[in-house]
Amino acid sequence: MGYGELIIRSYDPQYDRTRVEDFERKCEVGPAKRVFLFTDTLGDPICRIRNSPIYKMLVAELGNQLVGVIQGSIKLVTVHKPPNDLAKVGYILGLRVSSLYRRRGIGSSLVIKLEEWFIANDVDYAYMATEKDNKASVKLFVDRLSYVKFQTPTILVNPVSHRMSRISSNVEEAEAIYRKFMSSTEFFPIDIGNILRNKLSLGTWAAYPRGESWSGVPSSWAMLSVWNSGELFKLRLGNAPLSCLMYTKSSRLIEKLVPCVKLPCIPDFFRPFGFYFIYGVYREGPLSGKLVRTLCRFVHNMASKSKDCKVIVTEVGGSDTSRLHIPHWKSLSCPEDLWCIKALKNEKKNSLHELTKTPPTRALFVDPREV
Ligand SMILES: CC(C)(COP(=O)(O)OP(=O)(O)OC[C@H]1O[C@@H](n2cnc3c(N)ncnc32)[C@H](O)[C@@H]1OP(=O)(O)O)[C@@H](O)C(=O)NCCC(=O)NCCS
Repeated sequence: MGYGELIIRSYDPQYDRTRVEDFERKCEVGPAKRVFLFTDTLGDPICRIRNSPIYKMLVAELGNQLVGVIQGSIKLVTVHKPPNDLAKVGYILGLRVSSLYRRRGIGSSLVIKLEEWFIANDVDYAYMATEKDNKASVKLFVDRLSYVKFQTPTILVNPVSHRMSRISSNVEEAEAIYRKFMSSTEFFPIDIGNILRNKLSLGTWAAYPRGESWSGVPSSWAMLSVWNSGELFKLRLGNAPLSCLMYTKSSRLIEKLVPCVKLPCIPDFFRPFGFYFIYGVYREGPLSGKLVRTLCRFVHNMASKSKDCKVIVTEVGGSDTSRLHIPHWKSLSCPEDLWCIKALKNEKKNSLHELTKTPPTRALFVDPREV
């Protein structure tokens, strides 16, 4: 392939919308033998970045043919680098190259072009997330483009059955509490208020033991917020193992025939469905794990009232013990998502070393806009 033929330009909604949707549908993502989720962007290819402060999508063309896409967003976050602990970070997502044109440098060219846009916008660090067994992606970013492995958060997925469970207590709180308790968290977004005020954010809830008062600082407490990702895009399961399909069908059939049989009810994952994303999980005190569980039950009840929401997804830092209290199915979850980072300014290279050399001990804030 002559590199002169490859054109990388900004996404033009009028011209590109339909063909990017089509391209995304056809593009194989992830290892062929694994269960994976297809994303349906509901006619808006940039729905996953639209809620970020600054964003861009690039498309790669060979002749007139669309052969690759990439998206990026920029925001200001806390990084563990006191005293100057704010950094502008650029998030890379949605990198796809047509399977017919892989290993010809198109993926690398798209990332490099996006990095140029980051640099023009004064970004300190670029980062991305991928499954740790996505060999192509890890090799491209780490080996070819000098990204460094940075965090390995856990993605927890819990199916929503349509049975109700009881919530013991909940209190709604918001921005001020996050700023007070979570602002030193790794990657805490400085525009947290925009996230909480976004129409996709369904609310923030806190729980504390019955009999104690919220205003008098409870002995234990926990909080979380919920983002309705299903409003932006839908998921659909692909490549599910047969056992999963059989279980889905047989559990429904049994429920229909014998309603008193209490099998865990698995939703139908083979049709597009929405999901809630739990973010900003924070807890303090000896009973706080139980309170996280209580809050998750509350979210589950809320989700069970929505027609569309079939799973609840959470992503927490690899060392965050809250995951022990967040209900999830192992078979649907991903124990180690891999985040890689790269300093885009020379003077940031030392602090990047600080950021990545020790195993992450601080909690990580996973921005719902980047799911
Ligand atoms: C990952 C992906 C974007 C790579 O695109 P690409 O255009 O093939 O990448 P490049 O040609 O620029 O590859 C650059 C380097 O990355 C590494 N690489 C890319 N694909 C690889 C593969 N399948 N196996 C091993 N290494 C790979 C190689 O080092 C390659 O250099 P080389 O070809 O000289 O050996 C493409 O495989 C893809 O679209 N995959 C599905 C979507 C996906 O997983 N996206 C990443 C999500 S973050």
